[in-house]
Amino acid sequence: MRMTMRGTAMTHPHIRAFLFDLDGVITDTAEYHYLAWKKLAAEEGIPFSRSEADAMRGLSRRDSLRVLLKNRPLAEETAQAWMLRKNDTYLQMLEQLTPDSLLPGVRRLLTEARDAGIHLAVASASRNAHLVLDRLGVLPLFDAVGDGHSVVNPKPAPDLFLWTAGRLNANPRQAVVFEDARAGVDAALAGGFWVVGIGTAVTSERAHIHVADLSDVTVTSIVRGLTVLSD
Ligand code: BG6
Ligand code: MG
Repeated sequence: MRMTMRGTAMTHPHIRAFLFDLDGVITDTAEYHYLAWKKLAAEEGIPFSRSEADAMRGLSRRDSLRVLLKNRPLAEETAQAWMLRKNDTYLQMLEQLTPDSLLPGVRRLLTEARDAGIHLAVASASRNAHLVLDRLGVLPLFDAVGDGHSVVNPKPAPDLFLWTAGRLNANPRQAVVFEDARAGVDAALAGGFWVVGIGTAVTSERAHIHVADLSDVTVTSIVRGLTVLSD
């Protein structure tokens, strides 16, 4: 589609790939991450608020611990033990996950995008991403999964999105990232991707499109929302 406005051509980009963050986008495991850190914080007598949990969204386990510690020193051995404890709590919570735990609109959007020939991937900082996708029953819908094992530099570095887009043979200008985390939006923008920001932890100024959740999002609404201005 091409529209002309006062000498400027307005086109919609050719989108070949959708890259989904997992926790907080496909399913509400962002809440489980929060509850698992909160349990550890309570056991160790460390204050921990919702806004700190929002700042943790998208961050690696190690970077999340840094946010929790707020400059408190911690021996490496203890840090490792705490991360293990948090993960054990998180893994117990994952036992509740079923295909019904997909967030509203997700299955419909994935199916619609696949039918439209769009390649689909997950790009998540989590080392538990495969397990979560398996429990949700959606692993076969994705052509690639980038997770907490795929790259060295975590979000907000663009590496994970670039690595995952590479698996789909898509360049960033042909790919849309769906993210609920500030670190994730920054990572996607740094990589040159189109970004759909989701929920209250990200602001609409940074993402190209902002939605409360995916319930009303369609392939057409996304592509129409992304316009390229060129002379
Ligand atoms: C991200 C979450 O997807 O994965 C973060 O938003 C989490 O909250 C990170 O810290 C790492 O997850 P995991 O499962 O490897 O501890
Ligand atoms: Mg997320």
